[in-house]
Amino acid sequence: TRKVILDCDPGHDDAITMILANANDKIQIEAVTTVAGNVEVDKTALNARRVCDIIGLDVAVAEGSNRPMVRETQIAESIHGDSGLDGPNLPDVPKTPVHDQHAVDLIIEKVLESDGDLTLVPTGPLTNIAMAMVKEPKIVPKIQEIVLMGGGTFGNWTPAAEFNIWVDAEAAKVVFESGVPIAMFGLDVTHQAQATDATIDRFAGVDNDVSEFVVELLRFFKKTYKEVFGFDGAPIHDACTVAYLIDPSIFDTVDVRVDIETKGEFAYGMTCVDLLAVTGREPNVNFAQGLDQGRFWDLLENALQTYSK
Ligand code: BDR
Ligand code: CA
Repeated sequence: TRKVILDCDPGHDDAITMILANANDKIQIEAVTTVAGNVEVDKTALNARRVCDIIGLDVAVAEGSNRPMVRETQIAESIHGDSGLDGPNLPDVPKTPVHDQHAVDLIIEKVLESDGDLTLVPTGPLTNIAMAMVKEPKIVPKIQEIVLMGGGTFGNWTPAAEFNIWVDAEAAKVVFESGVPIAMFGLDVTHQAQATDATIDRFAGVDNDVSEFVVELLRFFKKTYKEVFGFDGAPIHDACTVAYLIDPSIFDTVDVRVDIETKGEFAYGMTCVDLLAVTGREPNVNFAQGLDQGRFWDLLENALQTYSK
């Protein structure tokens, strides 16, 4: 089993990532921490607690950074709606409580008390992870791996930058330069994981409370992806991270150098992926390029089937 902290900004695909992780024996969720990203941090924490209620996940859910390290807060309501999780009916006041520590402190505590066997899975801006590294550098050599969704060789928020990295590129710089092994799931691979109507119908066939929740999430997410990007499917970006931890053979990856642009005129937040090794610099990232779509959707459907009616 892989012990993980899911550091997220739910967010439709973040919620599906929690659902996938909770369903699989190979993953042990040690905590869920939330960050400002798709919506403000109070909303992402509320949403994470709501998802815990719906899927019966009993772990600490800690609220984290409410703004990026340097820049102002930026959110993605156009994609995820006002709540951050528009579509399904959500419990107003979740039973799952908010943990009484800040996410950054919980991450530090969990890593320090681990045997070096804790993996961080960030699927939002990297603020909490970078803040934890800055506050307590002793965690850096103890983190087993960081398996993140962010970046790519093209952008979705600007032509050059993907949303999670663009929101807090300074934090991304801290993380990518930390020396911790990084597996990176950027748009190159996550856009291969687009849930179409056929996928949604397939999930609807599972027919339990969690699959119904996922179907409602995907219907909304697919609609905004059509409106904003003209796509026929909704990329389940964030779930690639946990799918990789469950079964890395679903993905093609390559070791490369990735540096984060924090000063560019047009390219703030770009992940400069050195695919041709032109820098000659030591690789710092295992970069995902390809995905076996059939096996990816099978994994998600099997996950949904583990939930009862
Ligand atoms: C990323 O941004 C968010 O909207 C998604 O949850 C995902 O983490 C994709 O760019
Ligand atoms: Ca996310």
